[in-house]
Amino acid sequence: MDAEARDTATSRKRLHVITWGCQMNVYDSGRMADVLAPLGYEPAASPEGADMVILNTCHIRDKAAEKVFSELGRLRRMKEASDGRMILAVAGCVAQAEGAEILARAPFVDIVLGPQTYHKLPEMVARASRAGGAVIETDFPAEDKFDHLPDAAAPQGIAAFLTIQEGCDKFCSFCVVPYTRGAEQSRSAAAVIAEARRLVAQGSVEISLLGQNVNAWHGTEGWGLGRLLRAMAEIPGLKRLRYTTSHPRDMDDELYAAHRDLPALMPFLHLPVQSGSDRILAAMNRKHTADEFRAIARKLREARPDMALSSDFIVGHPGETEADFEATMQLVRDVTFAMAYSFKYSQRPGTPAAGAPMQVPEAEKDRRLQALQALLRDQQAAFNRSCVGLTFPVLFTGTGRHPGQIAGRSPYLQPVHVVGPVDLIGSEVPVTIVAAHPNSLAGTISQERRSA
Ligand code: 5AD
Ligand code: SF4
Repeated sequence: MDAEARDTATSRKRLHVITWGCQMNVYDSGRMADVLAPLGYEPAASPEGADMVILNTCHIRDKAAEKVFSELGRLRRMKEASDGRMILAVAGCVAQAEGAEILARAPFVDIVLGPQTYHKLPEMVARASRAGGAVIETDFPAEDKFDHLPDAAAPQGIAAFLTIQEGCDKFCSFCVVPYTRGAEQSRSAAAVIAEARRLVAQGSVEISLLGQNVNAWHGTEGWGLGRLLRAMAEIPGLKRLRYTTSHPRDMDDELYAAHRDLPALMPFLHLPVQSGSDRILAAMNRKHTADEFRAIARKLREARPDMALSSDFIVGHPGETEADFEATMQLVRDVTFAMAYSFKYSQRPGTPAAGAPMQVPEAEKDRRLQALQALLRDQQAAFNRSCVGLTFPVLFTGTGRHPGQIAGRSPYLQPVHVVGPVDLIGSEVPVTIVAAHPNSLAGTISQERRSA
């Protein structure tokens, strides 16, 4: 912190962060709170009366910017009620992509900062506090953002997230991420393992490694993700490992071997495929075919027979015909997914697909999305039903909605409710599944545990 920033650190202040979008944003919001803590900022549950409000925004699909402007309208009134004391910051990918537009349309915003500049927040707050007009930082600094953030400070609880990689060099035709998050950067294995150890010491039992292209991670030590997972599985007290989001092109033998060998690595992988049509996959610049994806799914299931998959799909990419869409439906039928996210293609300014000919009419996108979602819903329901009668470990993270209930997550991230004692919260316990709902499971603590 420089002298100017330290001068601002006088009294206790209240910070409220509103987060949209992916887990990386959730993680980044935590890190922004961490860098502001030395200035006296403490988390506040609501923006009402806060000294600073940060909107951590997402630009991945439609209407993101509009949501930000409407939230800013609400906050403007609160800022006026505070006699202008409230510092208003817009962070994240909308800030990166539309920083100038934000300041033009919402001049009461004090700070606009892109995802690569969070370590500069204390200086920016100091500058904004001097009331010298808005502060904007959306450059991609030459130095590594990871080198400038402090070690994560706040404990994250039983299931924690750890960003190990950021940015993307893949340039899928439809996607803004390479423009808003910049080039791929990996954190060193040593830094990742040190942070993981700290999280476990603070009570985390599960860690999800995060990155826009997490399986493209490569440590300065020459390691790949499979090797990193192997090292992390050795950390005493760390029971569960996950990683998200991956690209099919970056699945390698080391990673399949990690799935085969590491019981802590959960048998559930989110692996976006986007389309099942080779023509559309090529237009999307995905650089793999539908059959290559089928082969990856097969290899994962060979490595780990209890493996379940989740994915992302886009319908209505420019040029997508009915036959292309049918190829996507066929891929879903062939591979089968435990859950999935599906979206209508949305034109993102500045991306290659946005200006492509043969945009698909909205009504057609709607129809395809409904058909795909119906199929995916059926598969999710079937997967949940197939869990009934099985016994698997559930990591309990809190109380359930009904008295006497505790709730946790299955290896497949399904929410699971059981009647059980609160002292099991924080433990991984074998649970026998007795009922399946569309989005959750009900179980009983297994006999094994009761007699233990
Ligand atoms: N339109 C629709 N969906 C998109 N996604 C990314 N960009 C777009 C877009 N322009 C989806 C992809 C990606 C997920 C995070 O969001 O499926 O995997
Ligand atoms: Fe976007 Fe493609 Fe990179 Fe994923 S791999 S972040 S979809 S450009």
